[in-house]
Amino acid sequence: MTIEMKWLGHATWLIETEGHRILLDPFLNDSPTSPVKADEVDADVILVSHGHFDHVSDVASIASRNDSQVIANWEIAEWFAKNHSLENTVGMNIGGNFQSEFFKLKMTHAIHSSQLPDGSYGGNPGGFLLTLANKNIYFACDTSLFSDMQLIGKSGVDIAVLPIGDLFTMGPEDSIEAIKLIAPKQVLPSHYGTWPPIEQDAEAWANKVRDQTDAEPVVLTPGESHTF
Ligand code: NI
Ligand code: MN
Repeated sequence: MTIEMKWLGHATWLIETEGHRILLDPFLNDSPTSPVKADEVDADVILVSHGHFDHVSDVASIASRNDSQVIANWEIAEWFAKNHSLENTVGMNIGGNFQSEFFKLKMTHAIHSSQLPDGSYGGNPGGFLLTLANKNIYFACDTSLFSDMQLIGKSGVDIAVLPIGDLFTMGPEDSIEAIKLIAPKQVLPSHYGTWPPIEQDAEAWANKVRDQTDAEPVVLTPGESHTF
């Protein structure tokens, strides 16, 4: 059973396995690096890590068109239900697990903020530990480095997706420390290259990962997939 992870630029990921499609933090129409527009993307499930515009802006349109299940923290799930009339929402919170027919999801801690675009309170920001097809994929999402990443790594992380953009999240140097704590088999960079303030040299980062950690770096360009 293989899993295909497609990077749609910024922090947007489309995960597909056995015909199931999980979309994380869709930011497409206003993203300078997205290879697709929101009306070209279909998803059964949409995960939302926190309330910032670069993570929620295309959730409602894609969810409405596909009747996607939208999974987020309690406050964001309620916000989508009330403000965008989404009926298929799941509200959870940090440390909780959600079990669906084909995947398990744990909402993990993230150190960031989470205000929604209209100023509403967006609850606590989170990351996701996604288990499907017997693989553990950890999306740190927007966060700084934190030492409890070591606990998340104890689950046995096959793939970690970490921000490296700096300024709004951890940067390349702290991501190396994060990789040492999580000890994933492979690591994919995210949340960089979208705008000049978060431009990074991903190949230089990949060389540091190879030199300083046991993980294999996988650098994609927007629109490219990693299959494992
Ligand atoms: Ni953010
Ligand atoms: Mn962000």
